[in-house]
Amino acid sequence: MDPNKAARLVEQANTVHGWFSREAAMLFALLDEVQQENAVTGPLFEIGVHHGKSACLIGAMAAPGREHLGVCDVFGGQESNASGSGSGDRDVFERNMRRLVPGTLDVRVFGKLSSALRAGEIGTGYRWFHIDGGHNPNEALGDLRLAAEVLGETGLIVVDDPFRPEWPGVTEALIRFLDQDTRFAPVVVGFNKLVLAHRLHSALYCAAIDDRARRAAYGIGPPWLLKELPFLRDSLRILYLPSHYRPPPDGLLARIAKVFRP
Ligand SMILES: C[S@@+](CC[C@H](N)C(=O)[O-])C[C@H]1O[C@@H](n2cnc3c(N)ncnc32)[C@H](O)[C@@H]1O
Repeated sequence: MDPNKAARLVEQANTVHGWFSREAAMLFALLDEVQQENAVTGPLFEIGVHHGKSACLIGAMAAPGREHLGVCDVFGGQESNASGSGSGDRDVFERNMRRLVPGTLDVRVFGKLSSALRAGEIGTGYRWFHIDGGHNPNEALGDLRLAAEVLGETGLIVVDDPFRPEWPGVTEALIRFLDQDTRFAPVVVGFNKLVLAHRLHSALYCAAIDDRARRAAYGIGPPWLLKELPFLRDSLRILYLPSHYRPPPDGLLARIAKVFRP
């Protein structure tokens, strides 16, 4: 997705409650652009929509008429949200999707626990699979295994909340999954997302992450830095803010703008 379109969508989705930062959206858009350039096609899926903040952007990545968006959330069945991660609301989700995503998009909603979801009902060949549902080890591990089963050869799995002290289950699931399924390699971690690809195709995405100019074009260049460190059997690209970085004080940019445009 073009960075300007992604920035517009982020702005429009400002009022949607959820957990999806501007930088995460720009990382999604950059990787989507790599898929477009390399003719990686297929449906897209998200487990855990809450009010649809990330689903809106993923939906906008889909080519209407050719690609559909599948989503799964327990919605009203919050008593089965074992990890207490978010709280989906189907009405709010559908309202937000209608407002922010072209009406021509085919959205297939699975209102149930993701552990009850089967590859047979959602199909295969996915180019994008975002996991942001239950955060307990077995929930996240089940979601990773399902994603691996339905992903197309050149597709991406994106996992929310990796390495977060509040959500150790996601990290446990990631490590167990990568240990068992050696077909997958990590591409990059940053902005609270970890991206995985089939090992045979990960170089395509890694090269795009390594491209400084490309990162800058998507607004995820400096002050964010990139480093690479060993992780399990691979090396992992990490997008991070240096510990000495201090964001400009609140309102500074607005005050500067006022000086130039009184
Ligand atoms: C962190 S929120 C999702 C945030 C959302 N992606 C966003 O952009 O704001 C997690 C969502 O997963 C749903 N959920 C939790 N456990 C689930 C499970 N086991 N199966 C399906 N959905 C689940 C919750 O209802 C909630 O809507």
